[in-house]
Amino acid sequence: MKKILITGSNGLLGQKLVKLFLTQKYFEIHAIARGENRLKNKSGYTYYSMDITEHDKLTNLVHKIQPDYIIHTAAMTNVDACELHQKECDIINVEVVKTLADVCKKNKIHLIHLSTDFIFDGEKETFYTEDDKPNPISYYGLSKLKSEKIILKADIKFTIIRTILVYGMVDNKDRSNIVLWVKNSIEEKKQINVVTDQFRMPTFAEDLAESCFLAIKNDATGIYNVSSNELLSIYDIAIEVANTFNLDINYIKPIFTSSLNLPAKRPPKTGFNLNKSISQLKLSSYSFSERLQIFKNQIIN
Ligand SMILES: NC(=O)c1ccc[n+]([C@@H]2O[C@H](COP(=O)([O-])OP(=O)(O)OC[C@H]3O[C@@H](n4cnc5c(N)ncnc54)[C@H](OP(=O)(O)O)[C@@H]3O)[C@@H](O)[C@H]2O)c1
Repeated sequence: MKKILITGSNGLLGQKLVKLFLTQKYFEIHAIARGENRLKNKSGYTYYSMDITEHDKLTNLVHKIQPDYIIHTAAMTNVDACELHQKECDIINVEVVKTLADVCKKNKIHLIHLSTDFIFDGEKETFYTEDDKPNPISYYGLSKLKSEKIILKADIKFTIIRTILVYGMVDNKDRSNIVLWVKNSIEEKKQINVVTDQFRMPTFAEDLAESCFLAIKNDATGIYNVSSNELLSIYDIAIEVANTFNLDINYIKPIFTSSLNLPAKRPPKTGFNLNKSISQLKLSSYSFSERLQIFKNQIIN
């Protein structure tokens, strides 16, 4: 039996991870999140309500559990909030990772850490590989790059999984993502403004959770890109969502990013080269449209 500790279990990926590991026989699951447990299925694992920025509490808990693996998904993920509240962003996205890296070193724990395409400036013509040079243009991206650097220097066993624009069904209704936002807005007959000049490879949350599991199963260490294999503009993503759910595309208005005047800059184009993940993580590669059908079936059933 292996012990696993998942941080951020109330979040989009955290929820999928708890559900995925509950289907595996050989894992004792521990999960940390802020406030009450917002997952519907609350049995079969131990839940700890904790603010992970409380250094001593987090360290003591890890010492007590002695997990074999920590999957660290908790983060300040709102890109504009990070730009506006940089100190808070550093505390959550950087200092917590330092604490985890230290405790992983002391206890010989394999750390699986989630990172982002936003460590890149989005100016590269071809898809990003794991070896490309980062150049973040937002504070969020910078904070996640700092967290990667801490892990690279920590002398621990680690896997860094970088991902792009994650979507999926969540148990807590206050959390949205690109697909739910488009679907819910049009169903409520609200017009949405969607950018045509940002390009992403959207990632199905279940596939991202699976990649964390594969890192453990295949004992894969180092940095890995994980996303779908289809590069689309955010506008085209919205159109595909509307078409999949038979919704009226006239509610989707194309706009340019500059018209939004957002606090944080976004990289224009962030597609991933998935070769390393396919060969070493044994990741299955899917298009956005294929996974959207699975998502649709989840909602219907
Ligand atoms: N979503 C994306 O499009 C995307 C893209 C690239 C990379 N990533 C990375 O993937 C990871 C998972 O993303 P996600 O979409 O699952 O994020 P999410 O839905 O925002 O979940 C993050 C979770 O972290 C928790 N958290 C934040 N601060 C905390 C604190 N001080 N103490 C305890 N918990 C705290 C949040 O708690 P509350 O629920 O209480 O706020 C939230 O449940 C993150 O590391 C993110 O940087 C995500």
